[in-house]
Amino acid sequence: MQRFQVSVPAQPSKCEIVIGRGILSAAGREIRRRLGPRAQRLALISNKKVFKLYGAPVVESLEAGRFQVSHWLMGDGERYKSLKTAETALQFFSEHGIERTDAVVSLGGGVTGDLAGFAASIYLRGVAFVQIPTTLVAQIDASIGGKVGVNLSSGKNRAGAFHQPGIVIADLETLNSLPARELTAGWCECIKQGATAGRKLFQQTTAYLSNTTGKQVAITSQLENLIAAHAAFKASIVSSDMREDPERNDPRSRRILNFGHTVGHALEELTDYRRFRHGEAVGWGMLVAGELSKNLGLLDQSELESLQAGIRLCGQLPAARDIGTDAILSAVRRDKKSARGQVQWVLLERIGKPRIVSGEEIDVTSLKTSIRDALKQRN
Ligand SMILES: NC(=O)c1ccc[n+]([C@@H]2O[C@H](COP(=O)([O-])OP(=O)(O)OC[C@H]3O[C@@H](n4cnc5c(N)ncnc54)[C@H](O)[C@@H]3O)[C@@H](O)[C@H]2O)c1
Ligand SMILES: [Zn+2]
Repeated sequence: MQRFQVSVPAQPSKCEIVIGRGILSAAGREIRRRLGPRAQRLALISNKKVFKLYGAPVVESLEAGRFQVSHWLMGDGERYKSLKTAETALQFFSEHGIERTDAVVSLGGGVTGDLAGFAASIYLRGVAFVQIPTTLVAQIDASIGGKVGVNLSSGKNRAGAFHQPGIVIADLETLNSLPARELTAGWCECIKQGATAGRKLFQQTTAYLSNTTGKQVAITSQLENLIAAHAAFKASIVSSDMREDPERNDPRSRRILNFGHTVGHALEELTDYRRFRHGEAVGWGMLVAGELSKNLGLLDQSELESLQAGIRLCGQLPAARDIGTDAILSAVRRDKKSARGQVQWVLLERIGKPRIVSGEEIDVTSLKTSIRDALKQRN
């Protein structure tokens, strides 16, 4: 089991992260230790699928930690990450007598975590929050950093808050039941973190992936070290730039985590969020950003090839070559991550060395060639 803390600037408390194999049964004890003796009730938010798989051992463990537990199951899928679902969650907290000293627990992937965290951040102006992430994306990324929120009809994650979980309990055994595509999406986000963190994390990720059969995840100590290294990287970025300061452009700003996301978001939007899992779209987005970095003379061919090989190890991505370059460019320009009207591209100087480049410094021809060349590749 690995355990570490994230300091959260401007908040007295720290967020604790516990990662291990078979640790769901320790959840009650861990949360009791973290919340102290005053907390009585826990409102557990999950969905039907995840609760059926892991609800019973979690509830049993929480009750053994002397909590009164009530659970509410939200719908499964991005479309349920909405204000309407949040309102239902808030009603549920009220009806079950959740008080200021109690807490909300999320059991599930990033959708459940973002929704439950958002509801926890506004209920009684904020109650304690606990994350028990059960997807790869949630364990290495979404559960860490305190960004919580919901989608609006105008776009994803448009309403939200910063609300740090007191504790994150990630049990790697839960990844055993994760569908192959969810794993691929998660591995793509791991490659993203490796490509922006440093060569060591990148190589640690590709070394693990080279030894796995692809569709199945091997729950080994190597995996435990890898997930812990990813969580620690995300935590380190967040502690130095919690609110994603728009003035920051340095290689340790939170913005670098958007590597691959500029084109990734465009691909998701252009296919109505139906064709790609988010991480899969980010896989294509990284291929474009890599190609663009090379075409602008920032990145060597051999480094681009390492990136491409790393993305291939994540698994098959749904085809993207039929999506028009001009449509992608228009969608990119509409993306909310632009600053003062300019798209901020996260590019690479080498594996592990990101560089933020403003859209005005990039000629349209390079951009179009990079998109075309990247998307026509066989993955
Ligand atoms: N807050 C952040 O910093 C942050 C970062 C990255 C992503 N996100 C958000 O996270 C969401 C994506 O999260 P996700 O990829 O975890 O998707 P998800 O929560 O939709 O989960 C994917 C699917 O896997 C199922 N599932 C979950 N755990 C399972 C398990 N152990 N076994 C079998 N099935 C399981 C879910 O029910 C769902 O159908 C997006 O809404 C994204 O915006 C937030
Ligand atoms: Zn992402």
